[in-house]
Amino acid sequence: MLNKILNFLYFRNYFRVAIFFSKFFSLFNSNIKKRVSFFNYFKKRKKNFTKDILEILYNPRVFIINFPENTEKIINQIYKYEKLYKKNEFSNDGHIEVFQSEHNLHKNPKFQEISNELEKFINSKLQKYFNYKKLTIDKLWFVITKKSGIIKRHSHFNSDYSGVFYLNVEENVENTNGLKLYNSFENLEIFRYSVSNNQFNVEVTNEKSLLLKPSKNDLIIFNSFLEHSVDNKNSKINERISLPFDLVFKNE
Ligand SMILES: [Fe+2]
Repeated sequence: MLNKILNFLYFRNYFRVAIFFSKFFSLFNSNIKKRVSFFNYFKKRKKNFTKDILEILYNPRVFIINFPENTEKIINQIYKYEKLYKKNEFSNDGHIEVFQSEHNLHKNPKFQEISNELEKFINSKLQKYFNYKKLTIDKLWFVITKKSGIIKRHSHFNSDYSGVFYLNVEENVENTNGLKLYNSFENLEIFRYSVSNNQFNVEVTNEKSLLLKPSKNDLIIFNSFLEHSVDNKNSKINERISLPFDLVFKNE
């Protein structure tokens, strides 16, 4: 019954009321509590969502796919970035041993090609899961994580999906380094692309967290409201390099 009410409110953009209800009912059922942050994400975006976008975003999903792109070329461009290791507005957001570039690389002529390629590739592989709506890159940046670097738990508030393209990662191993996704939902769908079958294999998990250990050239895309963190401790490589980005549906 409560779920019906919450869904009713969700599909009508009444996120504020949904937050009120889920806060109230979480006093009696702690399971409902996790719904608060879900509705909060939509409220914070301060926009009116169409029903089909709300349908697409309703179930959290993670897509993992190999993107056969020349990573050396991008890494070279990164080390030539004119503001490399210079302080910027992202320098003080609490991560450890991490350099983040400015988030507008998709507008930087030196990164425009990779930005376009990413967008094209993502749409060609994922569009059918998004009701054939087109995703556009809204932010693009790079991250260099030093040995033992940590990116603390966070989520992205201004986009529909977020992703990371891995350029240089530690390929082994026994440690617990990687991208950790926190699942505060009943189920999280994981879509892993199989090149031999030319399609995604889907598995569903209700685990509280999911540790992904990406390989070079892996592309991981997930709902922006999913919290995540990165741990790089005991890493054997000096600089783990990735290219994160945010995606929004076009003409929403
Ligand atoms: Fe992130």
